[in-house]
Amino acid sequence: QSGLITMDVGFKNTGSTTSNITFLDGEKGILRHRGYSIEDLAEKASFVEVAYLLIYGHLPSTEELDAFQSEIRRHTLVHENIKDIFQGFPASAHPMGVLSSLVTTLSAFHPESLDPHRDAEAVNLTIIRLLAKIPTLAAWSYKNSQGHPQLYPDNKLGYVENFLKMMFGLPTEEYNIDPALVEALDKLLILHADHEQNCSAATVRVVGSSEASLYASISGGINALWGGLHGGANQKVIEMLEMIKADGGDIQKYIDKAKDPNDPFRLMGFGHRVYKNFDPRAKIIKKYCDVVLDKLGVQDQTLDIAKKLEEAALNDEYFINRKLFPNVDFYSGIIYRAMGFPVEMFTVLFAIGRLPGWIAQWKESREMKQAISRPRQIYTGPALRPLVREEEAV
Ligand code: SDX
Repeated sequence: QSGLITMDVGFKNTGSTTSNITFLDGEKGILRHRGYSIEDLAEKASFVEVAYLLIYGHLPSTEELDAFQSEIRRHTLVHENIKDIFQGFPASAHPMGVLSSLVTTLSAFHPESLDPHRDAEAVNLTIIRLLAKIPTLAAWSYKNSQGHPQLYPDNKLGYVENFLKMMFGLPTEEYNIDPALVEALDKLLILHADHEQNCSAATVRVVGSSEASLYASISGGINALWGGLHGGANQKVIEMLEMIKADGGDIQKYIDKAKDPNDPFRLMGFGHRVYKNFDPRAKIIKKYCDVVLDKLGVQDQTLDIAKKLEEAALNDEYFINRKLFPNVDFYSGIIYRAMGFPVEMFTVLFAIGRLPGWIAQWKESREMKQAISRPRQIYTGPALRPLVREEEAV
């Protein structure tokens, strides 16, 4: 403490804003959106309803929901030139990098979004465009990586169905919508919808605080989510479970590695900055794993490994003392894989779910007219010193 500045690297205990959107209680494992529990929302609402709730502050009436969904359907297409941009990416490009690039690019096709003083109706059009176009861009980045034709959105379908068809459909055959897949993905998107001031939401608020466009702010959020300590963990969990499976399923070996202070290996999907109790979302997803795999008729040995890993960690005092529990990323990848998604798309699925939360956080901070984010520092570098060239010194 320098009398002026209190250091809190990583903002471990710093409140950056007030907010009416999401309430977390890390000790009790409570998560609520606009006062509704995540358990109630996951069980009784649809993802589009939760998106509306987060962004506009109340659950939509039937008329409001119909209007919201038809508005979204009108904007699911992207400018044809964007198809050409896809050609510029190598098939190996990670879809999170493609997505964040193309979301920023949307501001080139909708330049009115760059005006920080445009009216609420114009802002809402940008919000609708983002909700409508991100599933299209996400599915197309996957198709581009596979060398498959990109399917246009089918506006006869609902939000999740449309995305699944663009992801897995082919122009050569009828795509049959599997209700079990739709229900599972809808629930998973709800469980990822918002999480107060997490790394990516805080990034969206910081970028938005400079009056950069909503597209630029969301692109910033996508990039922050990509990191392996944040949303990228869901991809790393599966890679970790596969590594343990390939190594003969030696759970204790990896528990010991995670505990070794000299080993950078961490149990991906474990631990949380706020939850020092079970992540309520992980509880729901874990329960749902068995249901979805059963419904889809999928046997996945990594689920057995995950359950053994969880049991071993929860009985190990290193994890108990540090209150390290499974988080939202620990089981989600197992369901995504059972649904047929490639591991590279897992964090993109997290981004599609988190999009309404990011939008709600950005909208709230703009409506609160929050000042530009500009943290201070404590300087620890060299004191004043003259620049003397060698030839001058002689
Ligand atoms: C998400 O913030 C959000 O809300 C995020 C999120 C959301 O919905 O937006 O919930 C989504 O990002 C979930 C987290 C996904 N990340 C992972 O699963 C990656 C693995 N977990 C960690 O790296 C870690 O737990 C974090 C990043 C999640 C939290 O890190 P913190 O709060 O900065 O904790 P820390 O790194 O200071 O760890 C405290 C101690 C350390 O040991 P000591 O130095 O005290 O001896 O716990 C240890 C850490 O080494 N530790 C772990 C560990 N996580 C923390 N040790 C082994 N395995 C782990 N997973």
